[in-house]
Amino acid sequence: MSELNIDGYGDDLTVNGVRIGDLTPLDHEKIEKEKGGQNYSPLEDVVVSKVKDSSTLIARKPDPNDISRYIESEVLDGLCCYSAVNQGQLNKTIVDAVVHHLNEEKLPTVPRSIRHKYMSAFLLSATTITGMDRVIPKVAGVESWELSFKICRRWGYEVKKIPNGKAIIVGATGNFHGRSLSAVSFSDDPEAKENFGPFVPGIELVPYNNVEALEELFIEKGEFIAAFMVEPIQGEAGVIVPDDDYFIKVSQLCKEHNILLSMDEVQTGFGRTGRNFAHQLFGVKPDIMGCGKAAGGGILPVSFVAGRDDVLGVLTPGSEGSTFGGYPLASVVGTYAIKVMVDESLAENAKVRGGQLIKNLNEIKNNYSDKIMEVRGRGLLTAFEMYDEKKLDGHKVSVGLMNHGVYAKETHHTTVRLAPALTISSKQIDQLSDAVNDVVASL
Ligand SMILES: Cc1ncc(COP(=O)(O)O)c(C=O)c1O
Repeated sequence: MSELNIDGYGDDLTVNGVRIGDLTPLDHEKIEKEKGGQNYSPLEDVVVSKVKDSSTLIARKPDPNDISRYIESEVLDGLCCYSAVNQGQLNKTIVDAVVHHLNEEKLPTVPRSIRHKYMSAFLLSATTITGMDRVIPKVAGVESWELSFKICRRWGYEVKKIPNGKAIIVGATGNFHGRSLSAVSFSDDPEAKENFGPFVPGIELVPYNNVEALEELFIEKGEFIAAFMVEPIQGEAGVIVPDDDYFIKVSQLCKEHNILLSMDEVQTGFGRTGRNFAHQLFGVKPDIMGCGKAAGGGILPVSFVAGRDDVLGVLTPGSEGSTFGGYPLASVVGTYAIKVMVDESLAENAKVRGGQLIKNLNEIKNNYSDKIMEVRGRGLLTAFEMYDEKKLDGHKVSVGLMNHGVYAKETHHTTVRLAPALTISSKQIDQLSDAVNDVVASL
C-alpha cells in the first residue's frame, strides 16, 4: 500500500499534500472524473463549501479574472437535497440533540442484537406521527422500499395464501423507488436498467393515475397480487400529481381484492406536500409505507417502514436486519427530525409557502405562455414543465439559475423541480421566483 497522510480540518484538510482549500472547481471536477464513479453529472463550475443558514449554501465558482482561483458566493437552495433537508440545513434543534447525544449521553453505536434505550423513543415517535402500529428502521430511502417489497411478498404468501413463488407486486409507470436491483427491476426507465439484468420477476406495471388499468389487472390476476406499491405524488417523474379521487378509488379496489396498498413517501413525507405525509392529502391510509430522506433531518441517512400490525408482523427474527437501521445515533436523529416537523409546523409552512411559490410560478407561466407548459405541485414539492423545444432546455435553466444564485435541477430535460427547505421565508420564495422569471425570460 502506498503511503497515506491525512491531516487537518475544513479547508486545511490535507491528503498526501493536497490541501482541500487550494482546489478550484475545475480541480474537484478533475479528481471526481479520474477517481470517482461516473454515475452523476453534477452542475459544472460550482462546488459547495458550507451552509450559511437553513436555505443558503456557500458555493465556490471560478474567479472570472483568474481560473486558477475561485470566488465564493451565496446560493439559495431550491432543492434541499431532493427533500432530505425539509427541516432546513443545520436545524438547531437537531444539531443540539446530536452534539448533546455524542458529548454528554455518549452512545453512538451498538448493534440490533442488544437493545439500546433510544430505540424506544424513536418507535414511540414514529408510530405516533404515522398513526401506524409498527415501525422498522432502515438507512437509505431505497431500503425502506426494498423492505416494503419483501414484506408485501411475504404477506402475500403467509396471509393471503398466494401459491409459493407466484406473488405479483404491481407498480406504476414512471415510478422511482431508488437504485437497488429490485427497484430498477420495478422501473420503466431504460437508462436505469441498461445491462443490469436479469431482473427481479413477479412485477407488473400499470399507468400511473389510471384506475381502470389497475382494476383490469386486479380482475385478471388479483388472486396472485400481493400489493400495489406507488408514490402518492411522483417526484422524480417530474412532480406528477394524480387526480384528487385516484387514491380513494385505488384504496377501495385494493380492499375489494385483498391487495395491500403500499406507499413510498420517501420524497413526499415529512411535511413536504403540505401534510405530514402526502397520502393524507388524498384521504387514504396505506397498509404499509416507506419514509426516508427528511426522516434523518438532513444530518444522517435514516429511513423506516411503517405499517399495520398484521402486515409488518410477518417478519420474524433472522428474516430481516440492518447494522445501522435504528442504531442509537440514528434513533436520536430520527426522533428529533419528527419533533422538528411537529414543533416547527413544517407541513403548514409548506402549504403556505408552496401556495406562494405556485402562485408566482403561474404568473411566470402566464407571462411566458409560449415557454412554460404547466406548473405542478402540492405544498413545496413543485415543478414547471416547458414545451419540448431545443431552446427550452432544463439544464440551461439549472445553469442560468445558478448564475442567478439559485440551485435547482432539471428532472428530464424539460422539467425543473423546485423543492426548497420547508423553513424557507416568504422573501426567499420571491427571490427564487424572480430568478426563475429572469432565466425563463432569457431563453
Ligand atoms: C420516492 C423515492 N423513493 C426512494 C428513493 C430512494 O432514496 P435513496 O436515494 O435515499 O435510496 C427516492 C429518492 O429520490 C425517492 O424519491
